[in-house]
Amino acid sequence: MEKIAFNDLEAQYRCLKKEIDAQIAEVLENAHFISGPQVKELEKALCAYTGRKYCLATSSGTAALLIPLMAKGIGAGDAVFVPAFTFFASAEVVSLVGATPVFCDCEEDTFALDPKSLLKQLEKVRREGKLRPRGVVAVDLFGHPADFPRIEEICRENGLFLLEDAAQGFGGAIGERKACSFGDCSGTSFFPAKSLGCYGDGGAIFTDDEALYHIMESIRVHGKGSMKYDNVRLGLNARLDTLQAAILLPKLRAFDRENAHRNRAAERYAKRLGGRFAVPAVRKGFSSSFGYYTLRAKDSAERTKAMDALKNAGVPSMIYYPKPLHFQKVYEPLGYRKGDLPVAERLAETVFSLPMHGYITDDVIDFICSVLNQI
Ligand SMILES: Cc1ncc(COP(=O)(O)O)c(C=O)c1O
Repeated sequence: MEKIAFNDLEAQYRCLKKEIDAQIAEVLENAHFISGPQVKELEKALCAYTGRKYCLATSSGTAALLIPLMAKGIGAGDAVFVPAFTFFASAEVVSLVGATPVFCDCEEDTFALDPKSLLKQLEKVRREGKLRPRGVVAVDLFGHPADFPRIEEICRENGLFLLEDAAQGFGGAIGERKACSFGDCSGTSFFPAKSLGCYGDGGAIFTDDEALYHIMESIRVHGKGSMKYDNVRLGLNARLDTLQAAILLPKLRAFDRENAHRNRAAERYAKRLGGRFAVPAVRKGFSSSFGYYTLRAKDSAERTKAMDALKNAGVPSMIYYPKPLHFQKVYEPLGYRKGDLPVAERLAETVFSLPMHGYITDDVIDFICSVLNQI
């Protein structure tokens, strides 16, 4: 068996080399490295892809989540509800604006924010009366959208700002609605390992709210007013650079083909592993972009055994995520205890992710499954 990559960016480059090289050369020749025309072209293409009215390309996915919270004036004394089982940045941005993340449990099948837990935590915050409920960050984990029909309803009824963390969600959908189009605003990441990734850090914000869009556009460049040297609010330097935008354009054109390939790969994995491990669910009416292919073992001992067997066979596997956010050291002062969010805690002990990308071969999948089925 050839060397198995967790995410084969080299295979992708070999396939798209001609177009990517031409895009890079054009940027170098025109030397318009910041806010070049490719950035606007990408934003337009991303709007068309996701169905959102406005898009702002950003320097990272983290910036794409931070800017909307800054723009909404969310800050000290505010509660923002965040799932406990996600990448740290989903909650970090809440803390960075001075608000308090209130952690919620997750759904067993999709790993995403559990609307029932959201309601429970909202009720608790109201009962305690110390924080003002302001917003929700709902994450499309591993490519599968969160339960947005229900979460949007809860946010509407309770006057909460809904931010979709679509850092892993790009390409997923619920019916005709694409990821990055849920809630009031969405943020995605173009970190190289993402299903749509650039060759460095990058991200994008999406919204249909014109007023919010203009505030976020200002925050993206140091709170600019009529021009860069007129500063009307505090902001950041959070632009996506032209080279990354240029690289993303051909990758976006290849995205649907790669997404279909990942979905076929997921089906093949599921057919071969379904009896042995809990394979990722795709809810009826939803589609996943399978940025990651994540299994659940019975317990942590079985996970260790599986990952050891994979390692011995030369197959890379990863744990996303080994520690739920309410147990991170930085959040110790919030006082969460073991058992508070049982699903998130169990997921952290049992999940592991297998190689998955738009160029994985059937032979590689079959080999990985044979290793796992021999345990
Ligand atoms: C769920 C989630 N949110 C936010 C981020 C942050 O994105 P970035 O690394 O581009 O800042 C990531 C990236 O790994 C992520 O997976």
